[in-house]
Amino acid sequence: MNAPQEPLRIIPIRSAYELPEPVIRDELVRTGRGTAMGELLRRYWHPVGLAGDAGDTPRQIRVLGEDLILFRAGNGEPGLLHPRCAHRGASLLYGKVEDDGIRCCYHGWKFGPGGQCLEQPCEPDGGTRVGRMLQPAYPVAERYGLIWAYMGPPERQPVLPRFEPFENLEEGEFLEADDQSIGGGGPVIVDCNWFQHYENVVDPWHVMVLHGSFSGAQFTDAMLRAPTIRFDTTPRGVKVTSLRTLDDGSVFRRVTEACVPTWRVVPNPRVGQYARVESLGFVLPIDDTNFRIYTVARVRTAGELKGFRSRQGGKLWSELTPQEHRSFPGDYEAQKSQGDITWHSHENLATSDRGIALLRRLVAEQVKVVAEGGDPAGVGFDPADDLVRFEAGNFHDPRPAEPGR
Ligand code: FES
Ligand SMILES: [Fe+2]
Repeated sequence: MNAPQEPLRIIPIRSAYELPEPVIRDELVRTGRGTAMGELLRRYWHPVGLAGDAGDTPRQIRVLGEDLILFRAGNGEPGLLHPRCAHRGASLLYGKVEDDGIRCCYHGWKFGPGGQCLEQPCEPDGGTRVGRMLQPAYPVAERYGLIWAYMGPPERQPVLPRFEPFENLEEGEFLEADDQSIGGGGPVIVDCNWFQHYENVVDPWHVMVLHGSFSGAQFTDAMLRAPTIRFDTTPRGVKVTSLRTLDDGSVFRRVTEACVPTWRVVPNPRVGQYARVESLGFVLPIDDTNFRIYTVARVRTAGELKGFRSRQGGKLWSELTPQEHRSFPGDYEAQKSQGDITWHSHENLATSDRGIALLRRLVAEQVKVVAEGGDPAGVGFDPADDLVRFEAGNFHDPRPAEPGR
């Protein structure tokens, strides 16, 4: 009789039992008021809605962990107010928008879009302190089809930038704005930390693997060739230059940028046209574990911006079955599966992560600048100097690629 066989045993070299507790780099990911990153983010303007989101029905929005009420008075002025009424705290979500402001549902106090109290109908003589009563509010502005808000210290409010790609339109071009998180690769509100997405902008190597193979064909063939890649720190972010040699020896030069505070400067990888960057994505941290992306683009036909949304296995993310999500993972599946907030202590950054290392270093430096009382990179206070330029785009270079160019 044969001796019974020993069962096969696999002895791992590193036991998962010994995995230590994760440590998160709070200074990169936390968005609340008073946190290091939250204070950096609050030194810039952020889009908080499409222009049409500010209307005569008050809308509750969440930005950087704060709940706020967005509305537009009948006279056209948008307002962004703290939800708790300055009287006794009823939410202005239930208020009624009037010609010059919003009226609280509880006792009828009315506030203008800037928070000034206009009426106190239950008070004798209409309220003796009506003029001095202020509802906490944030400054807002409209530009490029978006509502922008500044949520930082009032005395440090910078000018709202203008963006060169949107200021110099060619014949037949116009601007479109979108709030569907184009480039996020998943749902409109992405349920993980915003920084996981932001640093993906300077992770060019995932294009070949994730988008070139796992997601199904997403980009043009040229995008999937092995590139020569160079990373540079710029005054306001990190730039990635990818050089790909085409069949005729010419070079496809693609430049993408991540800029502080949250901007994606990513030329469209699907259309195969050579041009300076045509769209900008503004990642909006809703709170520490949710974000969305507002996008503005130069287009030539109405609705063109919707075509920028990526497809996996030929379908939009929202159309995929659970099995197809498993079979064709994209940016969302990769980034969300890193965790609601990724475990920085458990990473092993390698050579291909150079862009991420540079971006984290630059952002951490800006966090420190703000903590020490300074003004971070890219904020300007001179209205005459509000134009922001980018180097990003898809370019065709007839010369052969030379290393280090
Ligand atoms: S709580 Fe708003 S008017 Fe009284
Ligand atoms: Fe991607």
